[in-house]
Amino acid sequence: MLPKAWDNGVMKNRKPLMAANWKMNLSLDEAGDLLNRVKKAEIDFNRVDVLVAPPFTSLQLAKKLLTGTSILIAAQNMHWEAKGAFTGEISPLMLKEVGCTHVILGHSERRTLFFETSEVVNGKVSAAIEAGLIPIVCIGETLEEREEERTLDIIRSQLNESLKTSCQQRSLPECVILAYEPVWSIGTGRTATSEQAQKVHLFVRRWLRENFDHDSGDTIRILYGGSVRPDNIRELMLQSGIDGALIGGASLRADSFLSIISFYES
Ligand code: 13P
Repeated sequence: MLPKAWDNGVMKNRKPLMAANWKMNLSLDEAGDLLNRVKKAEIDFNRVDVLVAPPFTSLQLAKKLLTGTSILIAAQNMHWEAKGAFTGEISPLMLKEVGCTHVILGHSERRTLFFETSEVVNGKVSAAIEAGLIPIVCIGETLEEREEERTLDIIRSQLNESLKTSCQQRSLPECVILAYEPVWSIGTGRTATSEQAQKVHLFVRRWLRENFDHDSGDTIRILYGGSVRPDNIRELMLQSGIDGALIGGASLRADSFLSIISFYES
């Protein structure tokens, strides 16, 4: 059952979303096994949305296994053009063809390891929206930036640049999802405290209200990502600004992912 605090103190209008980012992990067999376990689990989809983002090579399998369920499928990246001479790239239309409804964009690993700038992310966000894919746009500061107390400045500039076109149009579809992932907490076991995360989430929501109409400021979901585990999800979800999680390592095993999904029961 939901704890009292959930019912009273921090009741949110936005439906929680638990999103699994597998990154470059799991063979086809392992992927099939994990998807089948998640598919068989009793999940109350009235209370939570569930999404998996496998590597490109497992997307077709995910589509085959998940069609007819409520589990959503995302890609982890895409190119901004619909087709053409872009060796090694995958287009938004190709992702739609293999059953993706969502796409993760601007993950810090893309930004740092593959030199993806916010300008590129902005182009991809626009292309995704144009193609009818829902972008999950990632932002987050490094440890150095946090220690220099520049977190909110970095977040603001990443938002301004990564959503530049939408800001210019003063229009952001309500289905767009944002994910705050402090770089220092990704894969390190070092989760942001719920207060640290809440502070940034509330800042992002203020930014949304300043840049878009009141409705999108209220309805857009902001996920937290960075060492989310079964033992810290509940506390994070008790924060009024946190609408779900983008989960890496702990989403690679059915037991831990399912335990995170059913956070509302603990
Ligand atoms: P971890 O949960 O492994 O820290 O990864 C977080 C992440 O980067 C999700 O996109």
